Amino acid sequence: MAVLVTGGAGYIGSHTVIQLLNSNEDVIIVDDLSNSSIKVIDRIEELSGKRPKFYEINILEENKFKKIFEENEIESIIHFAGFKAVGESVNKPLAYYTNNLVSTLIILNTMKEYNVKNFVFSSSATVYGDPKSCPILEDFPLSTTNPYGTTKLMIENILRDICKTDKKLNVGILRYFNPVGAHKSGRIGEEPNGIPNNLMPYITKVAIGKLEKLSIFGDDYATHDGTGVRDYIHVEDLAAGHLKTLTKLRNNSGLVTYNLGTGKGYSVLDMVKAFSKACGKEIPYSIVGRRAGDIAMCYADSNKAKKELGWEAKYDLDRMCEDSWRWQSNNPNGYED
Ligand code: UFG
Repeated sequence: MAVLVTGGAGYIGSHTVIQLLNSNEDVIIVDDLSNSSIKVIDRIEELSGKRPKFYEINILEENKFKKIFEENEIESIIHFAGFKAVGESVNKPLAYYTNNLVSTLIILNTMKEYNVKNFVFSSSATVYGDPKSCPILEDFPLSTTNPYGTTKLMIENILRDICKTDKKLNVGILRYFNPVGAHKSGRIGEEPNGIPNNLMPYITKVAIGKLEKLSIFGDDYATHDGTGVRDYIHVEDLAAGHLKTLTKLRNNSGLVTYNLGTGKGYSVLDMVKAFSKACGKEIPYSIVGRRAGDIAMCYADSNKAKKELGWEAKYDLDRMCEDSWRWQSNNPNGYED
């Protein structure tokens, strides 16, 4: 009986796959490698001592995807695969709706056909829109401000609807806050295509000299230093949350929803300072105007996951920065090195 991990060669997916293999799970990866590298599979093997079965398939190729279920006995699915760039989603909404929604529907229909009952979904704190207050609880109102976020919320709604009629289905909706960090070995980490949109990969590229300086998007927010505050969480902690959720689903939980964050908010300037300490260099920056769609503050209340899953983030900001820096400095060209 295997756990099928879509997007298992990606950033969060690869860290989760290693933890699954280390827990003696039988893992199958499906990934089209559109935002990752075949080398990730080699490094997963190097780090875990096991090579997961790998299908280089785009889920939209439904027949090929279904064949995986013919060839293997799938017990659970962790669904990471999807487009994830907020800005790009505004310019290519149809591509986002097609890719993210249709692929999820194909997975859910295939699960039904092959009687697979456990499904973990990568959602995002983006489904809280501009929250009325922080920390954010799971029952806060949901809204979105861009097509990427809307795909996450639409999939959540689909999952809630199907769980109302199929009482045997177990679904874990995990709302990630801001994932950063890397495996402690420095062998796998985040490697976005092109110029990074997110803060941490941008800072690491400045630190290795590939980008000149960081632009800080606004210093006039109602936060302790005027820059945006987020809940940065180590990718290893996030990965661990998936394993705990899988255990919960296997005990017939029905549908469960959890915030995965640390509960602590750090500003952009806090991040620059912590990263400078980790890499031993100044990070040059300048303050520019606000980025459209950004909110002032976003951090989680993750007590529900603590109570119901026994999960809690372990790694602090220094460790997140050290691990991100080890990955970037050892692999200045990502998986091309
Ligand atoms: N920021 C900068 N300069 C940059 C990049 C980011 O100042 O070059 C700032 C942003 O304004 C924000 C903070 O750094 O205040 C974090 O920005 P990110 O782009 O790293 O992350 P976001 O919080 O905007 O978005 C992330 C994910 C989304 C997800 C969202 C959910 O990228 O996919 O968290 O909370 F939807």
